[in-house]
Amino acid sequence: MEGVRPTVKIISCGVYVPPKILTNADLEKMVDTSDEWIITRTGIRERHIADESQATSDLCLEAARRALEQASLKVEDIDLILVATSSPDTLFPSTACWVQKGLGALEIPAFDLSAGCTGFLYGMIVAESLILTHVCRRVLLIGGEVLSKITNWEDRSTCVLFGDAAGAVILEESQDDSGILSSYWRADGSLAELLYLPAGGTRLPASEETVRKGLHYISMKGNEVFKHAVRRMEEAASEALRRAGLNVEDVTHFIPHQANIRIIEATGERLKIANHKVYTNIERYGNVSVASIPICLEELRVQGKLKKGDIILMDAFGAGFTWAAIVYRW
Ligand code: UT7
Repeated sequence: MEGVRPTVKIISCGVYVPPKILTNADLEKMVDTSDEWIITRTGIRERHIADESQATSDLCLEAARRALEQASLKVEDIDLILVATSSPDTLFPSTACWVQKGLGALEIPAFDLSAGCTGFLYGMIVAESLILTHVCRRVLLIGGEVLSKITNWEDRSTCVLFGDAAGAVILEESQDDSGILSSYWRADGSLAELLYLPAGGTRLPASEETVRKGLHYISMKGNEVFKHAVRRMEEAASEALRRAGLNVEDVTHFIPHQANIRIIEATGERLKIANHKVYTNIERYGNVSVASIPICLEELRVQGKLKKGDIILMDAFGAGFTWAAIVYRW
């Protein structure tokens, strides 16, 4: 449209969640915890867990196939496969390359993006710039995790939180005023050790000792992460809205990363956003990291709640630390 800034929009979405469900009652049998503690402290009732044979790319592949099918596109119509994940199949090659192999997408460029739970929004921002600069016409962006395989199932402070899932979107240049209106992204590596995977990289290569000490599992100072998450998610949302020239009242749907219901509520309160605008599904999935925002989007769409012109505010925080928000017109 003449005079209108070009935008990038989501043309389809696909989600895959492994069928196996782990309830709070199941966890009560595994560690010293209770359904009541988990619900009141996190809002989680159950989470889905990949089976032994499934790696992250398997979940991503299924989500990608569903996104392609929804858009009636073939893999040849895609110019880039971008996977956001913190639980890759292998340190190298990228999970995106494993997905590319599965799709039979010969020679389409593919790479991973590591930005903790913020990875899906980082990926949207990267895809937007590649499309607007005509490097790519269509990007397949997938957020996928199998966190259950890097979780210490004897550590009650982390094992009750996470789940496995993947969500994929296809992005291209918009022909109208729908799409990404503004974004904001930040990182603070000085706080990296509050949420990280200590061993298995070049800092602390795998050894008998790292395995014995459980250093190949997620390590998190939950309390600290919580405080930073609320503050940074408020900052990201406010700044993205300011950049779009919009207010909280203009938002139709607020989609926060689903890490903890108390983080979501505290962020919503700080933003003064009406409760009915805040989408949550954490009770059914737990924290599925990069998959949480695309799953929320797809659920809203399937429920018929996304109307043309709706303003969607997406907001995330994760390991790094990283945080980002996107204002999107549906
Ligand atoms: O996507 C971004 C990544 N992660 C996050 O955003 C997570 C952010 N943090 C959180 O969600 C919360 O900090 C947690 C849910 C992890 C923990 O909640 P909390 O209210 O911060 O609890 P806490 O760590 O202060 O622990 C309170 C008590 C402790 O016992 P004492 O020391 O008071 O006796 C813990 O040992 O709760 C205990 N506790 C548990 N009790 C039963 C910790 N985990 C459990 C458990 N069941 N699963």
